[in-house]
Amino acid sequence: MAASAKRRRGWRKRLGALARFTGALVIVGGLYSVFSPSLYAQESEANAIDAEVVKGQELYDTSCISCHGANGEGVEGRGPSLIGVGSAAVEFQVNTGRMPMAAQGAQAPYLDDPVFTEEEAEWLGAYIEYLGGGAAVPDDLEILVADADVAEGGELYRVNCSSCHGYAGGGGALSSGAHAPTLEGVTDEELYQAMLTGPQNMPVFADNELTPEQKADIIAYVQWIVNDDKDRGGVFTLGRFGPATEGVAIFLVGMTALLLTTLWIAGKS
Ligand code: HEC
Ligand code: HEC
Repeated sequence: MAASAKRRRGWRKRLGALARFTGALVIVGGLYSVFSPSLYAQESEANAIDAEVVKGQELYDTSCISCHGANGEGVEGRGPSLIGVGSAAVEFQVNTGRMPMAAQGAQAPYLDDPVFTEEEAEWLGAYIEYLGGGAAVPDDLEILVADADVAEGGELYRVNCSSCHGYAGGGGALSSGAHAPTLEGVTDEELYQAMLTGPQNMPVFADNELTPEQKADIIAYVQWIVNDDKDRGGVFTLGRFGPATEGVAIFLVGMTALLLTTLWIAGKS
């Protein structure tokens, strides 16, 4: 076979390949133009969420990455992976000032003025949720708490929480140097987030153990006993310490009256 014929066949092959390639490009381009309008619409819908994720990542990359690693993968010996912990855990840790953790210790201390605002905590939560989903606080928490059953909440609190946080929510020491903090001053969200995510030595109360309604009952009870109800009972609530102060007052008044009567009788005779 002549060398020129071989070359011609080679050219034909190449031309055929080029034609098929161009054809494929045209088809792909056509398909893209058919579907792209809907892609654009979806994009703009997701833009608002994306913006939070981007802002969250910026904060994360400056304040959290050193311990929790790139993309929340964790750093051996510094901080656990955050993939799948969800926005509830992040908002809890950041809003209570536990994170960013200032120094490694047995238990991250909680601060009265957190490093980040609640809005920034939401962005951080959005970023961590974007990385791997996880538990979130229901949007209608306020309604759930408004409809809650305080008595039922008291029952659930005594069974599930009082062993660590005390009967009146005052907190208490745990083994190994840890402690369950007082529940004074906690918000409804923090209560829900703590139950949902179980920080440190606290167990996780997943929705199959305590339904969202039962969690709301507990929240209503805790807020009633610890934060709303400063009045501990008794008719006159002297000093707001309840019946005990009344008892002391009645005792003192009664004893004085008795003493005076005795003196009066003694004086008469
Ligand atoms: C100095 C290191 C350090 C820094 C900085 C830090 N963390 Fe942590 N983080 C830890 C450690 C250690 C734990 C686990 C112990 C604990 O929960 O106290 C933890 C736990 C957490 C948890 C709980 C995880 C779970 O399983 O529930 C979240 C959420 C979290 N960090 C978020 C953050 C965010 C968000 C930032 C940045 C704003 C941050 N952390 C900065 C060390 C750090
Ligand atoms: C086994 C002991 C234990 C039990 C049971 C327990 N907790 Fe906790 N709880 C803790 C510990 C320990 C912490 C502190 C975790 C930390 O500092 O990261 C805590 C933290 C909290 C906080 C955060 C308080 C703050 O100051 O930020 C709330 C709210 C809370 N618990 C509510 C509850 C409720 C409601 C229940 C019952 C459904 C419950 N806990 C059951 C041990 C417990």
